[in-house]
Amino acid sequence: MKPRKLKADVHWVGAVDWDRRLFDELIPLPDGTSYNAYLVKGSKKTALIDTVDPPMANVLINNLNQLEVKNLDFVVTNHAEQDHSGTLPQILKMYSNAIVVTTPKCKNLLMELLLIPENRIMTVKDRETLSLGDKTLEFIHAPWVHWPETMLTYLREDKILFPCDLFGSHLATSNLYITDKATVYEAAKRYYAEIMMPFRAIIQKNLEKIKDLQIDIIAPSHGPIYHNPEFILEAYKDWVYAPPKNIVVLPYISMHGSTKKMVEYFVAALVERGITVKQFNLARTDIGKLAMALVDAATVVVGSPTVLVGPHPNVVYAVYLANALRPKLKFASIIGSYGWGGRMVEQITRMLPNLKVELLEPVVIKGFPEEEDFKALDRLADEILTRHKEHNLAC
Ligand code: FEO
Repeated sequence: MKPRKLKADVHWVGAVDWDRRLFDELIPLPDGTSYNAYLVKGSKKTALIDTVDPPMANVLINNLNQLEVKNLDFVVTNHAEQDHSGTLPQILKMYSNAIVVTTPKCKNLLMELLLIPENRIMTVKDRETLSLGDKTLEFIHAPWVHWPETMLTYLREDKILFPCDLFGSHLATSNLYITDKATVYEAAKRYYAEIMMPFRAIIQKNLEKIKDLQIDIIAPSHGPIYHNPEFILEAYKDWVYAPPKNIVVLPYISMHGSTKKMVEYFVAALVERGITVKQFNLARTDIGKLAMALVDAATVVVGSPTVLVGPHPNVVYAVYLANALRPKLKFASIIGSYGWGGRMVEQITRMLPNLKVELLEPVVIKGFPEEEDFKALDRLADEILTRHKEHNLAC
């Protein structure tokens, strides 16, 4: 993709990664991603805002060459993670006068992770500005979105916010701006769930910090650009502030059909009571879909058979992730089956210290479910409905 103009002397110079399917060797990327970098040319100085993932360095360099950038004064580094900073060493070599502009914490990380020499880095304070002549960059420290060193950059004259990962989406597209809102909403929610949700409380503070900025464009470092900032700001407000909804997320595994039978009965019982259910078979689910479902859910019920006295390893993985992602869940429970004993409930419960959930009486049975077991599942469904009603989540 060639450089693309956002405003006079402001260009997108990043790279679209259509084929990438995994991030951090962990996060599925069903729709690829992009590494957005931006060139801001003032009447006196020129700044590059972020770089790209190292395997795509040539795309960024070609874009800078196409714009005939002979001199670069600053490379604003909003975030030290290598998908945005990894090409810094090449850029600093190409432009020997360029100085990295970043937060003090990011300076240390850049020196440690990328071995950037200290004399090539200039730190900026929160709300400090940098004049490029007729354009002014304002730096807003925004720690923990999603590393401790992160900042946002605001281009005052053009009212563009460059928030790096915050508000981003893993979505490869030929469109510079959002065209298909539903697709971008899904990708941005997936991104929020996987990357930002653990820092929900801190994001609230960062949203407060930018609420008085006049923003015409939000230009994140992944995915399409928002020329209607309210779209993503309102979505974030819902994901971050709104109470959870009348939803049960049910990740499960079944080896020989007992837990599956319980899940099927239980899902029907919940639906009968007017509760929305999102069911995931952990043997084949996209973990990103599960993370997205956890954004809004009030309750998680984990379904597992017993393997070597504990939960199935896929269940362990999902519970570990749910605990790490810190969604707004209020209640949790466990259903499943065992053959001759085990400590599944104890082990799963111990894995959820980050979640401020109340554990509702689990239904863990011996063998294949019978009449009494179905009645116990009905009682759990009743209990969930009662609790949701007490919190005004269900009517
Ligand atoms: Fe897109 Fe935290 O890197």
